[in-house]
Amino acid sequence: AELLRSTARLPRPFTAPLPIPPQVTGDRVTITQRQAEQEILPGLRTPIFGYDGRWPGPTVVSRAGRPTVVTHVNDLPVPVAVHLHGGHTPPEHDGYPTDLVRDRHDYVYPGTQRAATLWYHDHRMDFTGPQVYRGLAGFHLVRDDEEDALPLPRGDREIPLMITDRAFAEDGSFAYPSLDPELRRPGVAEDFMEGVLGDVVLVNGAPWPVLEVDAVRYRFRILNASNARRYLLALRPGAPLVQIGSDGGLLDAPVTHTELPVAPGERFDVVVDFAGFAPGSDVTLRNLLGDGTTSDVMRFRVVRTATDDSAVPPVLSRVERLDPGRAVRTREWRFSLEHHGDRHLWTVNGDRFAPDRPQAEPLLGQIEIWRIVSDAHHPFHVHLNPFQVLARRGHPPSPSDAGWKDTVDVRPHEYVDLAVRFTDYAGRYVVHCHNLEHEDMAMMAAFTTR
Ligand code: C2O
Ligand code: CU
Repeated sequence: AELLRSTARLPRPFTAPLPIPPQVTGDRVTITQRQAEQEILPGLRTPIFGYDGRWPGPTVVSRAGRPTVVTHVNDLPVPVAVHLHGGHTPPEHDGYPTDLVRDRHDYVYPGTQRAATLWYHDHRMDFTGPQVYRGLAGFHLVRDDEEDALPLPRGDREIPLMITDRAFAEDGSFAYPSLDPELRRPGVAEDFMEGVLGDVVLVNGAPWPVLEVDAVRYRFRILNASNARRYLLALRPGAPLVQIGSDGGLLDAPVTHTELPVAPGERFDVVVDFAGFAPGSDVTLRNLLGDGTTSDVMRFRVVRTATDDSAVPPVLSRVERLDPGRAVRTREWRFSLEHHGDRHLWTVNGDRFAPDRPQAEPLLGQIEIWRIVSDAHHPFHVHLNPFQVLARRGHPPSPSDAGWKDTVDVRPHEYVDLAVRFTDYAGRYVVHCHNLEHEDMAMMAAFTTR
């Protein structure tokens, strides 16, 4: 993928305070999508598309077992589709790429799923990349009794971190190489077909922010909401990232990472203990895959000691195993670049996305084994239900593959085997690459559950 360089004056890292998006709760929530200006770089105003006019959008908080109706009002100059990523959602509320909302839509989320870190973002066919880049993304947390009963850090020691990269034009506007800035015709400049990478790393919409912390445990819900950038996260000075949850909620038991790879779309719920750091210490979250400006993500400034009654229990949950021995069938999904004359297309099984032509018809309640085959880095994502990673190239999964996943980082010339079982809702859904430029260039396939 190609790096887009900012021409705006960039701030010194670790000066902007980390913003925390406001939370909204309740059975009925209304979010208005509108244009706004946000001060992201000091002294400049960045035009955004924002849920409630802000980026990230408000964090929606739901309770497992209770439906939430989110009314999305579209005051933007473009059609939208809202997808709740990680949501167990009936088809008419899943934000199918051609189910466009021009005015308003009541998205009904039944809430029949365990506690997890979900996020919502735009999913308009052919335009997801530019519309998410302009700001259409927010967190949606599902909570439940099982998780509440654990002594995990909470309150202002439980913090969502939406990591993105952007490039800024001189006037502070987002640079994005759309062929049509009005977003009526799709496409990005040819140089960026492999994905758009920016030179500024932002967390919750602030460039390389800083967060003051007590010398205690914190829970961070890490989301990579970047269009195409993968990160390898690590703390400097070194401290472990103790993973307690994946895309689909709590793990059985914590997994300790010193380096954590995070592909677009993935979430990692981690606990960091700052107790070993004296007040006055700086702890930097670094990106070991970056270079120059993209090798820093954010900083934690340890300001004081404090009491801490939190803990990471050795047993977190009991995760049901999808037994591959009970699978009723296998399928292969090949993610590859195809050349059609002088056009490049990102394809699934050699085909471009056809919204009305399902490529698979899995049966509800049945386990299937899927093999995802890839020619490059393609974060594979499936709607409706999460899956479990069985193997990578026939070898045991990586430590970061643990638990229920809905997005998995498939690496070049690799294949990943996973077990999946769809439940409850019959209808049409999609699988796709979560590199948003690949997705917009047709790397998506429809499937119908029956
Ligand atoms: Cu986060 Cu279909 O996407
Ligand atoms: Cu891809």
